[in-house]
Amino acid sequence: MSDFPDLSQFEALYHQFDGGHGVDHVTRVRKLAVKLAKKYLPEKVHLAYIAATLHDIGLVHGRKDHELNGAKMARESEQLQQLLSKSELAEVADAIANHRASTGKPKTILAKIISDADKVSDNPGEAMRRAVGYGKKHYPDLSIEEQIWRAAVHLKEKFGPEGTGNRTYFPESSRALQKTYGLIIKAVDSNDHSYLKKITQSE
Ligand SMILES: [Fe+2]
Ligand SMILES: [Fe+2]
Repeated sequence: MSDFPDLSQFEALYHQFDGGHGVDHVTRVRKLAVKLAKKYLPEKVHLAYIAATLHDIGLVHGRKDHELNGAKMARESEQLQQLLSKSELAEVADAIANHRASTGKPKTILAKIISDADKVSDNPGEAMRRAVGYGKKHYPDLSIEEQIWRAAVHLKEKFGPEGTGNRTYFPESSRALQKTYGLIIKAVDSNDHSYLKKITQSE
């Protein structure tokens, strides 16, 4: 179970992505996906490992449709074609295609695991740094204070009660989401810039 395939050719792609989708991100998503799979999909932990590793590779073609491009890249990978049966590869590609909170409709347990693992962060500071990393690349003209505020408001919209990111499939994911984003949302509501700055800049 623990000897997972060498997927370094896919992992290498993450070095070129923005701060929110780099190597740290894929490593964290994979760790969580494997953890959830051990509990909810024990016979397919290796598929969770593979799908998590590949979930954002489609970003090589830009953010738009990256879930579909990633699924296509997975289906066309000779390495994966050799490694997996046809149905396993289809399941992995389906999980990649449905990982986005905004567009995805995860139906299989594997797809739900990847979707949850992609959303849940370890701590509010890490979530803020990811969102700021994204902002620096896509809104380079903002000052650092503006970056932090933009990131916090974005996280509130995405993960607050109305947000698409609020939808999770496993109880531990919704608990983790509350823990991670509850304090950020509170800080946005109370205009607490200094708290947001503090967590963004602490490790
Ligand atoms: Fe993604
Ligand atoms: Fe992701």
